[in-house]
Amino acid sequence: MGFKVTSHFSYKFRLLLLFTLCLTVLGWATSNYFVDAIREIPKAKDFMANFNKIVVWRKEETVTEEASTNKANLESCPSLSPYLKGRSQLIFKPDITLEDVQAENPSVHRGRYHPEDCQATQRVAILIPHRNRERHLLYLLEHLHPFLQRQQLDYGIYVIHQAGSKKFNRAKLLNVGYLEALKDENWDCFIFHDVDLVPENDFNLYKCESQPKHLVVGRNSTGYRLRYSGYFGGVTALSREQFFKVNGFSNNYWGWGGEDDDLRLRVELQRMKIVRPLPEVGKYTMILHTRDRGNEVNGDRMKLLQQVSRVWKTDGLSSCSYKLLSVDYNPLYINLTVDFWSDP
Ligand SMILES: *[C@@H]1O[C@H](CO)[C@@H](O)[C@H](O)[C@H]1NC(C)=O
Repeated sequence: MGFKVTSHFSYKFRLLLLFTLCLTVLGWATSNYFVDAIREIPKAKDFMANFNKIVVWRKEETVTEEASTNKANLESCPSLSPYLKGRSQLIFKPDITLEDVQAENPSVHRGRYHPEDCQATQRVAILIPHRNRERHLLYLLEHLHPFLQRQQLDYGIYVIHQAGSKKFNRAKLLNVGYLEALKDENWDCFIFHDVDLVPENDFNLYKCESQPKHLVVGRNSTGYRLRYSGYFGGVTALSREQFFKVNGFSNNYWGWGGEDDDLRLRVELQRMKIVRPLPEVGKYTMILHTRDRGNEVNGDRMKLLQQVSRVWKTDGLSSCSYKLLSVDYNPLYINLTVDFWSDP
């Protein structure tokens, strides 16, 4: 009898053990699943919800730690840099190479620079949409790097390259630049910069103001006059918050024209006011070129401009889908290559 009881007990006990084991395994598996799921949320829900606490994904810990300890003891840079020279006559040397420009800018690393002797007042990302304009890009880099260093800025230059043969979409490339650059650094200010415009006067500060700023008051190709009243193209400066507030650019302007007027309407809808430097300061040299193939005038632009107030909330940063093909940290700029494969 005694034997029978023990045998019965041990059978029950073994069953219980097996059951507990199963529960443990099940619990372990599901907890892992949930932890993974939670980890995915910031990516899936994207950064819009977390705007004020942007996760910095691509940052190199060692570099930034070192930089921040160095910077901690530095005084702020003066509001006007002592290195500014004023207006200069720009010369474009046809035989210049990327290596030459690199040699002239030894303090630029992986597309970034910050002053050594003071703490810059703003961190500025320069975003340049690009396709098939290598020569222009080289001229711009040659002039822009020393220009920005004379302004004592903590800056990074991003070139956003559109792959594929679809029509060029300047505005959408700039949205991508904004979203991707924020993965490197919580930039304070964004400069949206055409590749063929070179600033002549370094008093034209590449910083953001309390209102969105339009920097191209005139260019040599228009006799240095504003192209038209309300013009908001070429080079603009919006703070991280200002650009976020207008939901960025529209993603729907394929080909040349209209997207800059669209942005102006977005800015006005938010009751912000566009500011400009003085005409003497806001001067640019435009590098001559013929219109590229794949960037024909956009015939839909007038139609698109009529619906801005209706669609701005749903068309912009919040709906910008793209395929990031590569991120290359070149010595003089960060190159983002994107494909808009799923768009019409
Ligand atoms: C503007 O300057 C650039 C560079 O010097 C030159 O190629 C271009 O012809 C100029 N445009 C006009 C209209 O003067």
